[in-house]
Amino acid sequence: MQYLIGVDLGTSGTKTVLFDINGGEIASASREYPLYQPKNGWAEQEPEDWWNAAVQTIGEVLQKSGVNAGDIAGLSLSGQMHGLVLTDDQGRALGRSIIWCDNRTIEACEEFTRLAGGRERLIQISANPALTGFTAGKLLWVREHCPELWARASHIQLPKDYVRLRLTGRYHMDMSDASGTNLLDVPHRCWSQEIAERIGLSMEMLPPLLESADIAGYVTEEAARLTGLRAGTPVAAGAGDNMAAAIGTGVVRQGRAFTTIGTSGVVFAHSDTVQIDPSGRVHTFCAAVPGGYTVMSASLAAGLSLKWARDRFFQAEVQVAEEMGTDSYALMNQEAAQSPIGANRLIYLPYLMGERSPLLDPEARGAFIGLSAMHTRRDIARAVMEGVMYSQWQNLNVLRAMRVAPNVMLACGGGAKSPFWRQMMADMFEMPVSTLQNTEGPALGAAILAGVAAGVYNDVPTACERLLKENEPLLPDSGRHAAYDPFFHLYEALYPALKDAFHELAQLEKA
Ligand code: XUL
Repeated sequence: MQYLIGVDLGTSGTKTVLFDINGGEIASASREYPLYQPKNGWAEQEPEDWWNAAVQTIGEVLQKSGVNAGDIAGLSLSGQMHGLVLTDDQGRALGRSIIWCDNRTIEACEEFTRLAGGRERLIQISANPALTGFTAGKLLWVREHCPELWARASHIQLPKDYVRLRLTGRYHMDMSDASGTNLLDVPHRCWSQEIAERIGLSMEMLPPLLESADIAGYVTEEAARLTGLRAGTPVAAGAGDNMAAAIGTGVVRQGRAFTTIGTSGVVFAHSDTVQIDPSGRVHTFCAAVPGGYTVMSASLAAGLSLKWARDRFFQAEVQVAEEMGTDSYALMNQEAAQSPIGANRLIYLPYLMGERSPLLDPEARGAFIGLSAMHTRRDIARAVMEGVMYSQWQNLNVLRAMRVAPNVMLACGGGAKSPFWRQMMADMFEMPVSTLQNTEGPALGAAILAGVAAGVYNDVPTACERLLKENEPLLPDSGRHAAYDPFFHLYEALYPALKDAFHELAQLEKA
């Protein structure tokens, strides 16, 4: 029997899963690491922590499973996107990485847009506007604020590329992750010489590009000694986490999409052709399916909103759940389900972290609109869940307007465990919503990419068809859809009405 390993390098930790070639999960291991926030809005991680977590979890799955390292046909990685890792000429990471949820680069992004030839030209080439989460702004920020570090930098890597570099000794980046740098010519799947020249970046700093299912290299003797892998094990290029999750959920053909309610919320659709929103409200990236494209939204506080509400208002549920060994979110769901659609006319805006899609406004903030003395914790719980889902609905409508309208929706992430939330999704989206039997989306996606690279599977779509099994979908209810509709229209009108107030508040924060 042959096996495959998928390493999912996330923000709270790394999870590594060892699968058999039928997609069966044999062993998994996780390691957490810190997120450093030295200033308000900053977010950094230590590349050495990622490497140690990968080494330890790979070693642990080999040990737990008892699988012979010689039977591992291949390994690949899924990674948090956009984080900037600068390496020196010996491949050593130069300090901490500024990661995807860091917001320090508002001015650097404006400067980058100007240098790159303006917003319109930038979107034509890189398919996306310069966003604070993306890599290019971080690069300009480091160049301006840490010139001594910049002078020592020889290569740009993204988080999982750095781990792959340590495994194989080779610099690479895959198309899907490179799409989140603002430096890739996304329609042509190559680095944009035009942007690099305009911003004064040497092309030599940009690593060779690969498709996600290409072999990037082989495990070195040194990495083999540390992990327990066999030296020479093939390592596939891998993908950004959302694109790897798409492989692990079978969103590899036009018409298929998934919605993730994790810390952030993502509505993600596959497209056979490149589709770009000229106003940049949603992201267009290369897919991990060679030659394919994706359109996805990112809302920053989806599950995070519910966690915030739980930690602030539902401590009793947390305590009961602890005592009874149940899930505090399941108890919150029961409360929320007792409030009617519209939460007794209470609307929540989920912009706790500013917002990316579709608002592109780091200074937007959360709000409850319509609070009255009659409202209870039940209404608060329901309003939060509805507000998070209105935001996904609004983003789905952007995708629909771009003609990447899906007809199959899969629900993923921690939020997908809630049947109440999934039903809300089906009712709002007016679509059947399914889940997958295998819930390890990004790690399984990475393992499938490794399997294709190693020749275990012919190609990504046929591997997905063979390995992935869907559960029965929840069906939409047209009566409930109609009941949500007026609240959704109000939700959409609220941000434009409050935008100036959010910006004034931000000025007060700076004062
Ligand atoms: C995507 C994004 C996040 C990160 C972290 O644009 O910023 O999904 O990849 O998970």
